[in-house]
Amino acid sequence: MKSFFSKFKNLLLIGAYKTLVIFEKLTNKGIALDFISKDYIDDPYKTYNSMRSHKPILFSQTTRLYWVTKMEFAQEMLRDKRFSVDDRKYPIADKRRKEFKKAGREIMLEQFENPSMLKLDPPDHSRIRKLVQYGFTNRYITSLEPEIKQIVEGCLDKVHNQDSFDLIEDLAKPLPAIVIAKMMGLPNEDLDQFQAWSEDLLVGVGGIGTSKEEIKKSGDAYEALIRYFEKIILSRKDKPSDDFIGKLIQAEEEGDKLNIKEMYGTCLLLLIAGHETTTRLIGNGILTLFNHPEQMKSIKENFELIPNAIEEMLRFEPPVHATVRFAENDMVYAEKKYKRGTPFAVSIAGANRDPDANPNPNIFDIFRKDIKHISFGYGPHMCIGASLARIESRIAFEILFERFSNMSLQNKNPEWGKNLIFRGFDNLRIHTN
Ligand code: HEM
Repeated sequence: MKSFFSKFKNLLLIGAYKTLVIFEKLTNKGIALDFISKDYIDDPYKTYNSMRSHKPILFSQTTRLYWVTKMEFAQEMLRDKRFSVDDRKYPIADKRRKEFKKAGREIMLEQFENPSMLKLDPPDHSRIRKLVQYGFTNRYITSLEPEIKQIVEGCLDKVHNQDSFDLIEDLAKPLPAIVIAKMMGLPNEDLDQFQAWSEDLLVGVGGIGTSKEEIKKSGDAYEALIRYFEKIILSRKDKPSDDFIGKLIQAEEEGDKLNIKEMYGTCLLLLIAGHETTTRLIGNGILTLFNHPEQMKSIKENFELIPNAIEEMLRFEPPVHATVRFAENDMVYAEKKYKRGTPFAVSIAGANRDPDANPNPNIFDIFRKDIKHISFGYGPHMCIGASLARIESRIAFEILFERFSNMSLQNKNPEWGKNLIFRGFDNLRIHTN
């Protein structure tokens, strides 16, 4: 009986969603962000392009957000202090607090009140970002190169004699996870566990058509990760170390630089941001190259093309498709009035395909000059791990092409994951020759 009602409720929800899509089409001259349709999941860029040519800042009924698909506006919003990231300041916060309380999510509520830097405005954002940046100097990141090579070789050694392997499971997932775990000083044997938690968690962030069970699983994973970091941090309080967690503990003990809840949030952010995105860059990049065999051939003949090819992959198939900002006060922007707390989805994927930013933006071209993308964000929240992601993916591509110069895709049309924010694959099977 319970399952009958839950199916009935789902049907009602889908019906309401479809009505919203029709309404959006009517009000937006045929354009709607129908994010559960297969067309959208297969090619979201078509929708973003239509949205931009209709209105570069367009309200979507289905997401209740203004979508910004023009590069100029997207960059401005990411840079301009009048657009904020701190959920706690806006009416949406009370709804979130109530949801956490109702679901008995005490840890999530505590963390909501002590967000990571990704969700903080200045001055708190600058205070924490400064601390984290010490762990990401160019010198340190470049010094990791030999170790990253070893990790890639190790991953590919395991599959070297096989006819086929899964690029995601065997390389794109473990590589950044091993690197970030090492940087943070997390035990290697915990790798599988925190990868499983982080995958479950992400389903709840931008997941399309997410079920109640999946949302619960995502919350459980979030809380498990916070508890995991709590245990690690407490057990290491009296054991100074040179890794990232060691440095955070030192900063916390030195005074008012960081409180313990902020420390958990920082660790969680680094762990998730540190590997889920790079995994997708490697997967999305390889698929795009398979779809452009001439360009793949050029790369195999000249590895020096790889760095520019990575920038073009980031532009063309970005791992992170959107990020949210709020109007900090009532304001006028681009000749329109917005109320305090109005949420905007800055469409990274849409802005990257703006013809005013990149000529012929829907063409993938590894030889493109002056590539403009905001795939690592822009302004004060710009990605801290960009140079690490670039090094990891460059080394991964170099060694892949060196070892498997005749590799081919088993399934030429793999299914994209259903997520509005993170775009990528769960699996990508490759024939080794
Ligand atoms: C291809 C890989 C990656 C992509 C596409 C990516 C993308 C992004 C984007 C778009 C933002 C800005 C979000 C916003 O403004 O709301 C961001 C921020 C951030 N990223 Fe990355 N990222 C990647 C890899 C990494 C890695 C490897 C790390 C760390 C090991 C990392 C750590 C962070 C952190 C800590 C922030 C927050 C910065 C702040 O709020 O000041 N990311 N990333």
